[in-house]
Amino acid sequence: MAEIRNIAILTGAGISAESGLRTFRAEDGLWEDYPIEEVATPQGFRRDPDLVQRFYDARRENVLAAQPNAAHAALARLDAEWAKTERGELLIVTQNIDDLHERAGASRVLHMHGEALSAWCTACDARHPWAGTLRDGPPCPACGAAALRPDIVWFGEMPYQMERIFAALARADLFVSIGTSGAVYPAAGFVQQAASHGARTLELNLERSQGSQWFDESRLGPASELVPAWVEEVLET
Ligand code: APR
Repeated sequence: MAEIRNIAILTGAGISAESGLRTFRAEDGLWEDYPIEEVATPQGFRRDPDLVQRFYDARRENVLAAQPNAAHAALARLDAEWAKTERGELLIVTQNIDDLHERAGASRVLHMHGEALSAWCTACDARHPWAGTLRDGPPCPACGAAALRPDIVWFGEMPYQMERIFAALARADLFVSIGTSGAVYPAAGFVQQAASHGARTLELNLERSQGSQWFDESRLGPASELVPAWVEEVLET
């Protein structure tokens, strides 16, 4: 295997499935119960803020009740080893709004779709760690306005830190996608972005995704098995 220095990792809901957090597009997926346009768009929030706040209050509770699984732990180990041995750069770009990567011990995590445990004030633009509910319109700790919304990137909104993500993809020697269906852009285009800059590309997923064709290699199976095995492989090189 060619010398791997810089690793860019993308994770999706599949990496947290074995922690008991629902994915979106499976037959029991979240989007089966809640139409996206009602709970995950700015228009839906304007139309029925209470419905949206309750949806994310429930997501927040589920996140707090979940525990990281072996896949999160393996990525945290890789993150720490890569830093200690100064092998190169590493970035975990996650589409997930849970904090399981961080709770497993990973430090270089970028939440491109926002975070369930963060509240964003639409009056003063401040963001606050938030483990409680938002449905009752609590005051913003900074400005006091009852104007807090979930700090989530909804459909039609711009994902966070795209420049930083594209810079990591441009420098990556290896791009690994874990637990994502490849259904939503811009994340679904990262594999082609990385490959165009010469990165090798690997997909670890329960089943073939919409983007499998773009990967040099696809390994199919549960993340809790595939990710620890892959991390062992990388740390042995
Ligand atoms: N191990 C590995 N992969 C799994 C597992 C598992 N245990 N369980 C499910 N998967 C895979 C599924 O096969 C599927 O390809 O994870 C993927 C989950 O796909 P989605 O439900 O579409 O979730 P994701 O790809 O993260 O969605 C992307 O869409 O709805 C928006 O903003 C939301 O961040 C989300 C984005």
